[in-house]
Amino acid sequence: MVANGGVATSASINGRAYEIIDHSFDVVVVGAGGAGLRAAVGCAKAGLRAACVTKVFPTRSHTVAAQGGVAAALGNMGPDDWKWHMYDTVKGSDWLGDQDAIEYLCRNAPQAVYELEHWGVPFSRTTEGRIYQRPFGGMTTDFGKGPPAQRTCAAADRTGHAMLHTLYGQALKHNTEFFVEFFALDLIMDAEGRCRGVVCLKMDDGAIHRFRAGLTVLATGGYGRVYLSATSAHTCTGDGNAMILRAGLPLQDMEFVQFHPTGIYGAGCLITEGARGEGGYLTNSEGERFMERYAPSVKDLAPRDMVSRAITMEVREGRGVGKHKDHAHLHLEHLDPAILHERLPGISESAKIFAGVDVTREPIPIIPTAHYNMGGIPTNYHGEVLMKKNGDADTVAPGLMALGEAACVSVHGANRLGSNSLIDLIVFGRAAGLRAAELVKPGETLPELPAGSADAALSRLDRLRYANGGTSTAVLREKMQRAMQTHCTVYRTGEALAEGVEQINAVWRESADVRVSDRSLIWNSDLIETLEFENLIAQAAVTIVSAENRKESRGAHAREDFTNRDDANWMKHTLATIDADKKSVSIDYRPVHSYTMTDEVKYIEPKARVY
Ligand code: FUM
Repeated sequence: MVANGGVATSASINGRAYEIIDHSFDVVVVGAGGAGLRAAVGCAKAGLRAACVTKVFPTRSHTVAAQGGVAAALGNMGPDDWKWHMYDTVKGSDWLGDQDAIEYLCRNAPQAVYELEHWGVPFSRTTEGRIYQRPFGGMTTDFGKGPPAQRTCAAADRTGHAMLHTLYGQALKHNTEFFVEFFALDLIMDAEGRCRGVVCLKMDDGAIHRFRAGLTVLATGGYGRVYLSATSAHTCTGDGNAMILRAGLPLQDMEFVQFHPTGIYGAGCLITEGARGEGGYLTNSEGERFMERYAPSVKDLAPRDMVSRAITMEVREGRGVGKHKDHAHLHLEHLDPAILHERLPGISESAKIFAGVDVTREPIPIIPTAHYNMGGIPTNYHGEVLMKKNGDADTVAPGLMALGEAACVSVHGANRLGSNSLIDLIVFGRAAGLRAAELVKPGETLPELPAGSADAALSRLDRLRYANGGTSTAVLREKMQRAMQTHCTVYRTGEALAEGVEQINAVWRESADVRVSDRSLIWNSDLIETLEFENLIAQAAVTIVSAENRKESRGAHAREDFTNRDDANWMKHTLATIDADKKSVSIDYRPVHSYTMTDEVKYIEPKARVY
């Protein structure tokens, strides 16, 4: 036995010895953000021995950066109903979301939030002591016919921070075994296509850790860092998504990338939509509240895709603010400073630090910024990964689950409503724990791993560690990020996308010429960034190829050459796979679920998405 309770062996790759430490768990969760931690707690509570393997210290996971809140129809600030939440989410998704999964999400949201409250999340409070809820874009009452709903439960503007710290405490309380600063290299798949665990690199000493598990849960977050400017942390490199692609499995709906309307101009940091929920508004260079023209009924509280498009149009038509007339203004200076202090302290500080703005006196310069990936690993509402087999795209890939931003359940469809991400993490994190308890018997002896089960992961690691080409990872990454930022953005055209596909494919090919200068295995950031780049470039390729392929406009995918939604031809999920050797992408499809989970609600028929 060695540190971390494993058993050590070794493997030789290209004549070089790698120490391998073996572990066996009922469940291994990869990622320690909100979804991973909630799943780990559920597994541990069910008596399963759960490991949580994470690239960063758990409380540094990107959930910590979520600001405005978590959506649930609690009805603390006025009438609300989970069925109204469901209606808004279906409409917000532009009818690409699976309605059975959306029902599961909205029906279970209140219970999931009360559970967090009981575990100690320090929610802001109403004067009666109830959880405070604010309005967020696209959240309405009475099936879209009533006024905006106050549905987003908030802990000031640090809701993700509060949730993540509470969930970490719960995971520790329930004896989750943490493996911190471990980089996941690849899944272990057997000949029958069952996932049998994951191979990781311990970044502080270079040892390889092989986790054998009855169930492997990927909660590895989004891949915002394919873009040059993103609200996502630099760690958001979609490592789980890339492992899925390398395992020959598909990613779903990757063309749908959300741009948050209010990233700080220049810095890209998030200014929460909660700022508009508290009464903030946008203006152009003429001082006009332009959202009144684009979404006459909900104005600044329109869904994000619409607000981002409106800002982009204002700039294009010459009404942008600033020296280059290339952004817009977000006003909070009319709000009571006491409200800013109590409900928006975090963004007040961010505006000061990153834009030099005192929000009590001047507007914040903002611009739409890459924020969230609606696409990811296809799953059902239990969190089980789906694959296509014998024509059935809802076939469960055994031994494998995915959650959170890494997953595409699909509840967000073509466009996610703000605050539906945090609720997705905890509702489906909880669902995964419940499903794991049905699928895995505590302490069951797991079959031996296939021979050489770490070899493919080690060969890839060794290839990159000794990569001796002529181009640094930083150069390749910047080329990829610039191509995505220019060609796969808020508005898209066939011509721009085709050019982007060419550029991304060129970078992908050029990655064979990568150079890693540091050959060590201890805190080798050159190597880790190269592994991350290899993950990113595959996701950039499937994203832009999927976007070029989808010839309609739906949600966040706004094609200027195909301006309408085309339900007859495109109400279907995209499935994208790669050939890693040939560096090519293949496209297939999966039907959208046109049914609900129970008879209590009816399928919501598609109609024009106007606000
Ligand atoms: O604007 C925000 O606070 C972000 C929330 C979200 O992406 O759900």
